[in-house]
Amino acid sequence: MSGSTLRAGVIGLGWAGQQHMAAYAEAPDVELVALAGLETEAMARLGDGYGIAADHRFPAWQDLVSSGALDVVSIATPTTLHAPIAVTALDAGLHVLSEKPMAENGTAARTMVDAAKRNDRVLDVSFNHRRRGDVAALKKIIDAGLLGQIYYAKAGWLRREGIPGLGSWFTRRATAGGGPMMDIGVHMLDMALHLLGEPGVRSASAATYAEFGPRGRGNSSGMAGAKTGVEAGAFDVEDLSTAFLRLDGGGTLLLESSWAQYIPRDQAYVTLYGSEGGANVEFGGTPTEPYRSLSIWTEKDGVPAILQPDIPPDGGHRAAVLDFLEMVTSGDFTSYRGEQALARAVVVDACYASADQGSEVILAVP
Ligand SMILES: NC(=O)c1ccc[n+]([C@@H]2O[C@H](COP(=O)([O-])OP(=O)(O)OC[C@H]3O[C@@H](n4cnc5c(N)ncnc54)[C@H](O)[C@@H]3O)[C@@H](O)[C@H]2O)c1
Repeated sequence: MSGSTLRAGVIGLGWAGQQHMAAYAEAPDVELVALAGLETEAMARLGDGYGIAADHRFPAWQDLVSSGALDVVSIATPTTLHAPIAVTALDAGLHVLSEKPMAENGTAARTMVDAAKRNDRVLDVSFNHRRRGDVAALKKIIDAGLLGQIYYAKAGWLRREGIPGLGSWFTRRATAGGGPMMDIGVHMLDMALHLLGEPGVRSASAATYAEFGPRGRGNSSGMAGAKTGVEAGAFDVEDLSTAFLRLDGGGTLLLESSWAQYIPRDQAYVTLYGSEGGANVEFGGTPTEPYRSLSIWTEKDGVPAILQPDIPPDGGHRAAVLDFLEMVTSGDFTSYRGEQALARAVVVDACYASADQGSEVILAVP
């Protein structure tokens, strides 16, 4: 730390990295001083835009981490780089905020948690969707007990035609670790478990399918990659997954994720069924016709009623970065070792294992 100002760096110049850059740039008592990434044109544009010194624009992440110029770093690279970068950065004494998914599997995620503990540093993972205003409002309603005991939940993120770049790093197991369950399902798993009050997951029974990607279909318009004709090996992940999770206390959660599916429109949702009320938070549509809704159904003195809570503004990446900075400045890092995100990674592992073996997988009690 130089004086009371934290020096921040961001690794990865894509959409996700740019969210972190914008958040650091407007956060108080932080200076964005270094970037790393492979794209020359994006580096010039973003480096100039954020006033990054020429000798703090690094093509290789290793040079950014060893530069000695930083207190905190955000990682927004392909997923299988998260763990090696995080461990190296934590060992170099930096605090780390990683993009989701934390890593390609629980084993890699655990190396990150171990490095945070070993070095007494903050490790956090950016789950920006749980910071939506409608989710925050629903969480307050749940915590006030208005839904009673929630016994069943459904969550999913389904896309009509949304493979994030056929043939890109997203569609290769070696760089992404998995398909939509790893990419967008993990957001909804995080949101659902957050709303449910962090119950442990006891077992997973899942199936995965790859019906679009291997045939060169389902590519998101505007993303890298060809619309048709994908090279062999360029798509070796699922494009749809479904999972049935048993939770501590007897509750259950149905989790579905897809990048491509014959449906009318994109849809992300969490639906909760409680003893005193039910709720649905949902968003989707298209960039030109987006929609979002929060519905809460209950009963007042025997009369069916609908609640319409005030919804605070969305927090998004900005809130994730500000919370991370607050943990760092708190000086007490013991509660912030990425263990909740590790637990998410372990559930995703169990889902893939269940899909592979075609039977339910029991998770170890932590
Ligand atoms: N939280 C969210 O809403 C959200 C949204 C999109 C992506 N993500 C996550 O963010 C991460 C990045 O996704 P993206 O869509 O921005 O990807 P992207 O492909 O657009 O960007 C990846 C960046 O990593 C850089 N990179 C790759 N190898 C590198 C290396 N060896 N050294 C330095 N830089 C290197 C690339 O140059 C590129 O700038 C992924 O983990 C993804 O899951 C999160």
